[in-house]
Amino acid sequence: MIKPNSQAERTDRNSIPIPRHPKQQKRHTSPSSSHLSPKLFFSTLTICAALFLFFQIHSLQTSPWAFLGQWQRRVNTPLTFTNCTKDFPSMSRKLRQSVTFLPLKDLRFAQTAMQGHTWFMSSLYDTHKEGEVQYQQFPSESSQGRLLCIKGRESHDGAFNYYALAWNESLPYNATYFKGLTFISYNHYDYYNIWHGLSSMVPFVGWHRKEGCAVPNRWILYHWGELRNSVNPWLKTLMEVTFGNAFIETFEGFDNDGPFCFEKAVVMRHNEGGMSRERRMEVYDLMRCKARRRCKLSLEGRWKDVDEWGVPVIGMTLLMRRGARSWKNDSAVIEIFQRECKKIENCRLIVSYPINLSFCDQATKNRLTFICDIKYNVRLMSLTDIVVSPHGAQLSNLIFMDRYGSIMEFFPKGWKQLAGVGQLVFRWLASWAGMIHQGTWHDPNGEHCPYSEDDRRCMSVFKNGKLGHDEKAFAKWVRTVLKQVQARKMDEALSKNGTTTPNEL
Ligand SMILES: *[C@@H]1O[C@H](CO)[C@@H](O)[C@H](O)[C@H]1NC(C)=O
Ligand SMILES: *[C@@H]1O[C@H](CO)[C@@H](O)[C@H](O)[C@H]1NC(C)=O
Ligand SMILES: *[C@@H]1O[C@H](CO)[C@@H](O)[C@H](O)[C@H]1NC(C)=O
Ligand SMILES: *[C@@H]1O[C@H](CO)[C@@H](O)[C@H](O)[C@H]1NC(C)=O
Ligand SMILES: *[C@@H]1O[C@H](CO)[C@@H](O)[C@H](O)[C@H]1NC(C)=O
Ligand SMILES: *[C@@H]1O[C@H](CO)[C@@H](O)[C@H](O)[C@H]1NC(C)=O
Repeated sequence: MIKPNSQAERTDRNSIPIPRHPKQQKRHTSPSSSHLSPKLFFSTLTICAALFLFFQIHSLQTSPWAFLGQWQRRVNTPLTFTNCTKDFPSMSRKLRQSVTFLPLKDLRFAQTAMQGHTWFMSSLYDTHKEGEVQYQQFPSESSQGRLLCIKGRESHDGAFNYYALAWNESLPYNATYFKGLTFISYNHYDYYNIWHGLSSMVPFVGWHRKEGCAVPNRWILYHWGELRNSVNPWLKTLMEVTFGNAFIETFEGFDNDGPFCFEKAVVMRHNEGGMSRERRMEVYDLMRCKARRRCKLSLEGRWKDVDEWGVPVIGMTLLMRRGARSWKNDSAVIEIFQRECKKIENCRLIVSYPINLSFCDQATKNRLTFICDIKYNVRLMSLTDIVVSPHGAQLSNLIFMDRYGSIMEFFPKGWKQLAGVGQLVFRWLASWAGMIHQGTWHDPNGEHCPYSEDDRRCMSVFKNGKLGHDEKAFAKWVRTVLKQVQARKMDEALSKNGTTTPNEL
């Protein structure tokens, strides 16, 4: 891991920057400048005044009108502004001192925290082209070339962390300058929830694709403006695999009050919002491809998996759980799927129990060992066309199937009525990653709830219930899915192998 100090460069540039303004003006001055001198005088004046106004507006958000009067008065007494060159050292000092920090979390927009400019860095707007990722980049044209600076590392109240824009030549005093590319993520929910964490990562992958695969030097994570120092390990591994770097900056070891300014920063606060379906699928394609490459797996995809006559193999994988939302009778469920699989030519059933994660956890010193979980899953999913699983985090691995992979999802009693939209996450994930969610089965039987069954309090009873099974319903459902997958894979095999006609199969 790289130490923060090696990545940041402390700058305390009290020296006076080279004045650029007058030089540029000289360049524009024609030989007949004597005729133009009143004009020149006024344009110089305007520029100086505009510059001043610009900074003042930022520092005087609360009462812009009161300030306008001041500005007008100053115009009427232009003497103080007649010579930009002379004023430059003091202007520069003023610029540095007038960099105004606003709270990262703007409570005025608490009601619309997720909309438009959101309550995170609320004074700034995103760059957004139709169908593309929505983001902010600094420095950029829309920031007038200014860098993003951040102050504070509060992890309990985002209103005590601040942001500001500043020109590189006049960064605020005592600023620490971070070289390279910084990814700044805003997540309204939780980086430990795989779904929400993944959502906040997707736009960065989109940007990364778009910008020639630029690799970040560090990540800074926020939730409601509060600094976060870690993410779900599965997600962290995925970040590492995708970007080659998942170093999370927490500003430890830095002066508490000094601002941090970034050579180049990209800010995301809308997750994948704004990205077209096609773009999202490309993002998942990229992550899948990088993960497979990291695990040294074939990148060619499922269509290469055929028997000696070239007939495609159908991989069906049962993801089993232990404890919450596991099957009451594993062997009975396996039997049903095995029986139906045997009826189909070239169907291969894999039953996967969650691997022993406590072993992986002990191996955190070596990051690559930590991958043991994801590596196992990436490999497993690269052999899978149909994943059969109770609702749960293990289903996140569906993104590692080839596009058009199928998902059959099972819920315990009560979820349908009480679990809210949260139960749809794998439907969404499947759709975004280019998969086919084949529907859900809801257990009609379950634990007894002392309240009426649509009472919200029952959710705590049902949430981690165990799953029964319905032999007839499961068999019928999986037959349909198998037929559909078989037909699609045959078509695919034929289209990849132009020389063969259906009869030859
Ligand atoms: C502006 O100030 C600089 C340095 O003080 C001086 O060299 C220059 O002649 C001044 N220009 C005008 C137009 O007064
Ligand atoms: C910069 O840091 C020094 C030393 O920590 C401190 O004395 C000084 O007041 C700081 N300056 C500003 C403008 O915060
Ligand atoms: C900011 O200034 C420093 C030198 O003071 C330079 O190395 C760096 O590249 C500049 N950064 C940007 C974004 O212009
Ligand atoms: C693909 O084509 C080769 C010959 O070009 C043939 O041997 C093979 O059976 C074909 N496979 C399929 C799935 O059609
Ligand atoms: C589980 O199902 C199998 C097959 O249907 C059955 O033989 C077995 O008795 C069941 N086990 C339990 C604990 O119900
Ligand atoms: C998981 O690994 C731990 C530590 O290696 C071991 O103590 C435990 O028995 C294992 N559990 C299972 C179910 O294999």
